[in-house]
Amino acid sequence: MKVGILTGGGDCPGLNAVIRAVVKKGFHYGYEFVGIKDGWRGLLDVSTMPLTQSSISGILPLGGTILGTSRTNPLKKPEDIEKVIKGIKALGIDALVCIGGDDTLGVAARLFSYGLKTVGVPKTIDNDLSGTDFTFGFDTAVGIVTEALDRLHTTTEAHHRVMVVEVMGRHAGWIATYGGLAGGADCILIPEKPFDISEVCASVKRRSDEGKCFSVIVAAEGAHPSEVKGMIARDQALDAFGHARLGGVGEFLALEIEKRTGHESRHVVLGHLQRGGTPSAYDRILATRFGIRAIDMVHEGKFGRMCALQGNKIADVSLEEATSKAKTVDMEIFNIAGVFFG
Ligand code: F6P
Repeated sequence: MKVGILTGGGDCPGLNAVIRAVVKKGFHYGYEFVGIKDGWRGLLDVSTMPLTQSSISGILPLGGTILGTSRTNPLKKPEDIEKVIKGIKALGIDALVCIGGDDTLGVAARLFSYGLKTVGVPKTIDNDLSGTDFTFGFDTAVGIVTEALDRLHTTTEAHHRVMVVEVMGRHAGWIATYGGLAGGADCILIPEKPFDISEVCASVKRRSDEGKCFSVIVAAEGAHPSEVKGMIARDQALDAFGHARLGGVGEFLALEIEKRTGHESRHVVLGHLQRGGTPSAYDRILATRFGIRAIDMVHEGKFGRMCALQGNKIADVSLEEATSKAKTVDMEIFNIAGVFFG
């Protein structure tokens, strides 16, 4: 059996841990592996690399992906999906392990509907994939946000300022909610709940009236004021999957708060720092468990499915279910964070 592996979409700490687990366990089954470079682009260009014992050695703690990644979408043009299918056949690939978020796994689901043997592994720091309680990479991102909030708290308090911290989270505010809860944010703004700027300003004022002359506000990049239509984007250009390049809500809010309350305000965009670097121990373990399950699914002939964390067990769900809609924030957790808002 020849198994292809690809990593698609934004990178994520733990990708290499998945690759290592898939290949290591696959060797026990006597499988052969081929690494597809740069996500779906590697199948359009037929660009591959061998995956051997030596190529997976020492990669467990490495961030990024040894295979490279891209946001190439072969579903955009019918001729591209045909090219991908031809590429898979030309490479003699019997089964394809696709490590990605909803975009990458949406393509895997489509390929499965065309009779190809695909298995998905849920990756995204945003944790917004359905069917799984958590995706790998999320824990690392939350750790980075928490450390940043701890650091920003001391400087914000020392200067009696308002600090708006913009974090990733396009359609779902998981990072903002968990990071903000762990880092003691005074206010958390998420895409699921359009916010009222005057309420945010009122909470800043309330805190200062109570003698707390500083506030730390966490805003997901997809959070938006109810008076503004749609999300705040850097520019109008869309990527291959139709996503705008978000960013700017932190700056927008810091300016508004300063203007409306007179409190000196700053903003910080954590951006790709949340995605880079070594995975946390939790993510290394989760990614390894996912990788082992993915290759077991190949062995058991369970295609068109994605491995998933349900409770503390690794299960599997259909790719269709996983990619049908974004998993939004659990309001029970958000409301716990809300108890500590100013
Ligand atoms: O991977 C998802 C994500 O982290 C989003 O939260 C964010 O909007 C996007 O990636 C940024 O991606 P890029 O690396 O293409 O700027």
